[in-house]
Amino acid sequence: MNMPLTLVVDDEPDILELLEITLGRMNIQTCCAENLGAARQLLAKQRFDLCLTDMRLPDGDGLELIDYIQERGLSLPVAVITAHGSIDVAIKAMKKGAFDFLTKPVDLAALRQLVNNALQTSQFQATGKDRRTRDILLGESAVMREIRSKIQKVARNQAPIYISGESGSGKELVAKLIHQQSPRSDKPFVAINCGAIPHELMESEFFGHKKGSFSGAIADKQGFFQAADGGTLFLDEVADLPLSLQVKLLRAIQEKKIRPVGEQLEVPVDVRLLSATHKELAKMVQEGSFRQDLYYRINVIELHLPPLRARASDIPQIATHLLARLAKANGLPVPELTESALKALMRYAFPGNVRELENILERALALHEGRCIEVEDLSLPAAEGQPAAEPDGVRAQAISLETYLANVEKKALVAVLKDNSGDKVAAAQQLGMTIRSLCYRLKKLGLE
Ligand SMILES: Nc1ncnc2c1ncn2[C@@H]1O[C@H](COP(=O)(O)OP(=O)(O)OP(=O)(O)O)[C@@H](O)[C@H]1O
Ligand SMILES: [Mg+2]
Repeated sequence: MNMPLTLVVDDEPDILELLEITLGRMNIQTCCAENLGAARQLLAKQRFDLCLTDMRLPDGDGLELIDYIQERGLSLPVAVITAHGSIDVAIKAMKKGAFDFLTKPVDLAALRQLVNNALQTSQFQATGKDRRTRDILLGESAVMREIRSKIQKVARNQAPIYISGESGSGKELVAKLIHQQSPRSDKPFVAINCGAIPHELMESEFFGHKKGSFSGAIADKQGFFQAADGGTLFLDEVADLPLSLQVKLLRAIQEKKIRPVGEQLEVPVDVRLLSATHKELAKMVQEGSFRQDLYYRINVIELHLPPLRARASDIPQIATHLLARLAKANGLPVPELTESALKALMRYAFPGNVRELENILERALALHEGRCIEVEDLSLPAAEGQPAAEPDGVRAQAISLETYLANVEKKALVAVLKDNSGDKVAAAQQLGMTIRSLCYRLKKLGLE
């Protein structure tokens, strides 16, 4: 590869010089711009591998530069340099798509780390490194497609991601996928259940400790942060972190440094932070049981997993896939789900989401006889006011399937129309139908 080229945008000569020298020692060429105008001109002329920009510039701010780069579809990572204490701006920048941030005064070790990460990302994209992953997120509903494309996008930068969703909806799976699709994939993915660690051990578990720092500390110990260095740290059930640790975590995120228990000096760490909880964190912030500043920092980008019942069209695919997997794991032939069994699954509310579906199928696999899994084998809990096995159950299900399909169709039509700003001709084209047939359907569904 050629010598990488970095665009540095800053109006302070001292910083420009510092960055130029540091990058030069890393065999990276720099090109400097003192303001937005000059930066835009350079970007129009040259291809860069990385852009480092100050937030405050004489003719605007770094956010405008991020916008400019995004609008042009340039794929270079942008990192912003912010004044000490103005993390809020850094968060704004990451929400806009910035790769990462540095605070002034610029810490050289952090700078080198950031630059290496960013260049790895560029190369990673350029070489189109093999991104096949072990895990797959199933579901062809519009939301699931959207989530998959979001995962791919956020995997490239360093912004903390907060994954929300009901229990069993796939939060941990999404966290793993973000890691597997990121340039950090060959480094560790460390998942921690924050609710399962005794409070008195927490600090040492997270940040490590020095031998002799407390009774029982018989040797130096690495914490989760050190274990995840270079990789990804997934804080599961983050709502369960005690307030005392929330303060320390906030510091670690902001400074990108940690201090092991009993240690004098802070050590730099390079981790991508992902977090998740099934609790309503925003509500906990209001109630004062979760720090607002920490919430704001771990939630730079939110990925929300809708409950399974809200994407019932995914159920057949997921169920079939899980059933095949379970059967293979148990050395059994793969049974077929009868149509009425599938319909019953599509009607069921799944308070425990995909995990519950997995459990139901596992039980059915063990209980069923013959080659098929029938409704009865599922032993679905009866929904309120809706006994599971009515004599005319099949008919009731058929009606509900129709309503269900109409809803799916409605949603799809509305989405495509919206994509095409209400242009029916374009929408019909995208849907592969004639304009007449589109108008007919809209009328039938009461969407005219
Ligand atoms: N879209 C999906 N495609 C395939 N498997 C899925 C999907 N969503 C979830 N799963 C599977 O369902 C199970 C539960 O998912 P996961 O552990 O990620 O849920 P969670 O949201 O972290 O749950 P909890 O809140 O209980 O921790 C896992 O076995 C996971 O692989
Ligand atoms: Mg989980």
